[in-house]
Amino acid sequence: MAKFEPVLTKNFGIEGIRTLDVYRKQGGYKTAEKVIKEQKPEEVVEVVKASGLRGRGGAGFPAGLKWSFLPPDREVTYFCVNADESEPGTFCNRVLMEEDPHQLLEGILIAGFATKTTTAFIYMRVEFHEQFHILQKAVDEAYAAGYFGKNVFGSDYSIDCYIHRGAGAYVCGEETGLIESLEGKRGWPRIKPPFPAIEGAFKRPTVVNNVETLCCVPHIFERGVDWFRGIGTENSKGPKLYTVSGPVNRPGCFEAALGLTARDLIFGDDHGQGMRDGKKVKGCIPGGLSVGVLTEAELDCHLCFDDVRNYGLLGLGTAGAIVIPDDADIRQVLKNIARFYSHESCGQCTQCREGTNWMYKIAARIAAGAGRISDLDLLVDITTNMGMMPGLSICGLPDGAAFPIRTIVQKFRSEFEEHIRNQKPGVVEQVIRKTNPAAYELPILGQRAVSV
Ligand SMILES: Cc1cc2nc3c(=O)[nH]c(=O)nc-3n(C[C@H](O)[C@H](O)[C@H](O)COP(=O)(O)O)c2cc1C
Ligand code: SF4
Repeated sequence: MAKFEPVLTKNFGIEGIRTLDVYRKQGGYKTAEKVIKEQKPEEVVEVVKASGLRGRGGAGFPAGLKWSFLPPDREVTYFCVNADESEPGTFCNRVLMEEDPHQLLEGILIAGFATKTTTAFIYMRVEFHEQFHILQKAVDEAYAAGYFGKNVFGSDYSIDCYIHRGAGAYVCGEETGLIESLEGKRGWPRIKPPFPAIEGAFKRPTVVNNVETLCCVPHIFERGVDWFRGIGTENSKGPKLYTVSGPVNRPGCFEAALGLTARDLIFGDDHGQGMRDGKKVKGCIPGGLSVGVLTEAELDCHLCFDDVRNYGLLGLGTAGAIVIPDDADIRQVLKNIARFYSHESCGQCTQCREGTNWMYKIAARIAAGAGRISDLDLLVDITTNMGMMPGLSICGLPDGAAFPIRTIVQKFRSEFEEHIRNQKPGVVEQVIRKTNPAAYELPILGQRAVSV
C-alpha cells in the first residue's frame, strides 16, 4: 500500500501560514481561481459527487448529493459552515481553523460556487475565541484580495462571507438548530421536512457542511477524483482527521486515510503512541461521544463509515476518540456521559427531555453506590425508546445519547453488576439522600411509585 501523504494538515507548522501571502506561496487559492474561472457550477457538483466525499460532521452524508438537492430555479442560496464542533472528544475543526484558516476559505469558495451561494455564514461556537480572531483576519485579507465580495477572481461570481458566533450549545451543532440560532432565535432544531436545501436559513435554500468536509474540497480539484477515491475503504473515501484524548502518550489531531483502526490511533507511532504511566485501555469511545464505546478487545475496528456498525456503534461520527483507562470507574464514566445529554437536550421533545434526565438520575444513583441490577435493564430499555430511529424525536440528540449509554451498559455489564453486588445499601441510601436528593426521587429507589 502506498504511504499515506497528508493534505489537510500539510501546511501545519509553516511559519506565517495564517496569512494570505504565505498561503498563496504554498499554491493556495490557485485551485479555487481555476475552478471558478473554468468550470460550471453543475460540473463542480458532479466532480464532488464522483469523488465519494462524505460529510465529516457526523452523519456521513454524501456532499455532492446534498448540493444537488437545491432547487434549480432558486434566486438566493445560503451556505452555513458548521464550525460549532460541539461533540465531546472532537477538536479537528478547531485545529483546521487555527492552523490553516485559508484552506477552509478556499473550500468555501469552491463549494459556494458549486451551489451558487450568495452568502456564506461560518457558524462558530463562542468558546473558539482565538480561532474566531484568526479566521476573521483571514476573511478580511481574502476580501481585500478580491476573493470574497463582488466578482471574485474577476469572474461573474460574487459571494459574501460572515462569521457568526453561537452562544455555546451542543444542539446548535445540529443543522436546523444552527439555522435557528443564526436567525437570532432560540437555538433548537426544526421539524423536517422541509429540509434546509429547500427551506433553510431565512426561509431560503441552504446547505450546511462541516469545516473538515469543506477543507477536503480544494484537494479533490487539485489532485483529482481518482486520487481521492484511491484513499480509504470501499464506502469511505479520502483523508480524515482523527483526534485522540485521554491518558495516551501523544494526545492530538492526526491525519490518516479513512479506515484507520482504533488500535492504531491509540498505539501507532504516528498517532497516540500508546498509554501513559503503564495504564491499559479499558475502552475507547472512537467517534465523538455519541457513537458508543469499544472494549479493548474491539480496538481492531476500522474507523470508517461501515465497519463501526459491526461493533454496535451509531456510526463513524467525528472520529474523535476518547480513551478510557483501566483504572477508570465505569460508573463515573456512565454518569458523566448521561449528565452531558441531560444537560444539552433542548427540551422540545418529551421523550428526549425526560429520557435523558431519567438516564442521568439512574446513572447518578448507580455511581453513588445505590444502584440495582434492574437499573441496567431499565437504562437499556430507555435507550431503545427515545430517538429519531424509533421515529420519536425532532433531532438526533437522543440517538447520540442512547448509543454510548446502551453500549457501555451492555459491554461492561459484569463490571457494573460487580459494583452493585458489593454495595452497602443502608449507608449509601443515607449518603445519597444528603448529597443528591434528586437521585432519591427516582423510580425503584425509595420504593416510589413512579413508572418509567
Ligand atoms: C445534536 C447534534 C449535534 C451536532 N453537532 C454538530 C457539530 O458540532 N458539527 C457538525 O459539523 N455537525 C454536527 N451535527 C451534524 C449536523 O446536523 C449536520 O449533519 C452536519 O453539519 C452536516 O455537515 P456534513 O454533511 O459536512 O457532515 C450534529 C448533529 C446533532 C444531531
Ligand atoms: S430530540 Fe431532544 S435535543 Fe432534539 S429537538 Fe427534541 S428535545 Fe431537542
